[in-house]
Amino acid sequence: MTVVGPLGLSVQDQALEADVHLGLAAVEEALSEATKSDVPFITVTAQHLMEAGGKRFRPLLVLLAAQFGDPNAPGVIPSAVVMELTHLATLYHDDVMDEASMRRGAPSANARWDNSIAILTGDFLFSRASKILADLGPDAVRLQADAFERLVTGQILETAGPRPEDDPVQHYLDVLSGKTGSLIAVAGHLGALMAGADQRVVEVITQYGERIGIAFQLADDLLDITSDSTESGKTPGTDLREGVPTLPVLLLRASAPDPSVPGDVRLRELLDAGFPADDPDADARHAEALGLLRAHPAMAHAREDILRYAEEARGLLGPLPECPAKSALEGLCDAVAFRTM
Ligand code: IPE
Ligand code: IPE
Ligand code: MG
Ligand code: MG
Repeated sequence: MTVVGPLGLSVQDQALEADVHLGLAAVEEALSEATKSDVPFITVTAQHLMEAGGKRFRPLLVLLAAQFGDPNAPGVIPSAVVMELTHLATLYHDDVMDEASMRRGAPSANARWDNSIAILTGDFLFSRASKILADLGPDAVRLQADAFERLVTGQILETAGPRPEDDPVQHYLDVLSGKTGSLIAVAGHLGALMAGADQRVVEVITQYGERIGIAFQLADDLLDITSDSTESGKTPGTDLREGVPTLPVLLLRASAPDPSVPGDVRLRELLDAGFPADDPDADARHAEALGLLRAHPAMAHAREDILRYAEEARGLLGPLPECPAKSALEGLCDAVAFRTM
């Protein structure tokens, strides 16, 4: 058994492991090429986050999905590159939106340069992704356009927040499917499609991608609360600080105050008031809220939900033929649910 990729996926089969390793290396080489500009400064800004690391989850999913057809088909590696470039571009933009200062253990582009450079570099990466996508044909372009529409819609719905008549938990889950499930689903879809897998297999892997994508974002939101920056490469508590409600906070709000839970009343008070930048006590109050939330029973409930989504993703794989790639996709559910970075 060998661990493949930074996400820590265990792969049992040696041939599959070798294939995925080679595929990921080819993706890295192509990413380096795709982020080069004639303007040296753009090459620096565009390669900044790519070189800082990242889990390469979406390329990995493309490669695993391609195992259900011809994994060496010409569209497979370019699809993986398009997925990572698109993801990368959204990270440049997301860090502007979230005013994040750290990403992949490095300063975010907006922190290292400024918002304009971060936004324009994101656009540059989208343009490079589009150029590669064009060679994959109109079906691939349409799939990616639909996923991208959903991703942006998710980001906008998160920014706008639920309307008074919306259920906040349902709104949150819709945001997650949009902003994260969409691209991860299309990664599976394109991998299987480009490899020429059966239509039924393509459908199964697409549905699996959507489900595991939601589990992936739920885990990300939990890590925002629990992890320290050496693990996640990001500043902990960013969602809380930005007032982006994630599952543990939503579950807490949906439950009645419980004075028997230590800090429950105080935590609600802190969250209700928020952490405005012009409040001189904001940092101390934010640290206090983060500490209370980490110890709150709502965290265990959120963890149960992540496991449920990961299990649902695994269950969707049922119709696929038994093979090493299917076992790897099953293992990916654990890697996502229990990830620490
Ligand atoms: C971060 O994605 C944004 C989310 C959609 C959760 P990743 O967790 O895949 O980020 P990297 O690529 O590993 O940095
Ligand atoms: C990021 O969501 C989603 C996209 C980039 C589309 P988050 O804002 O929750 O992700 P992190 O925590 O910054 O990686
Ligand atoms: Mg963010
Ligand atoms: Mg965000």
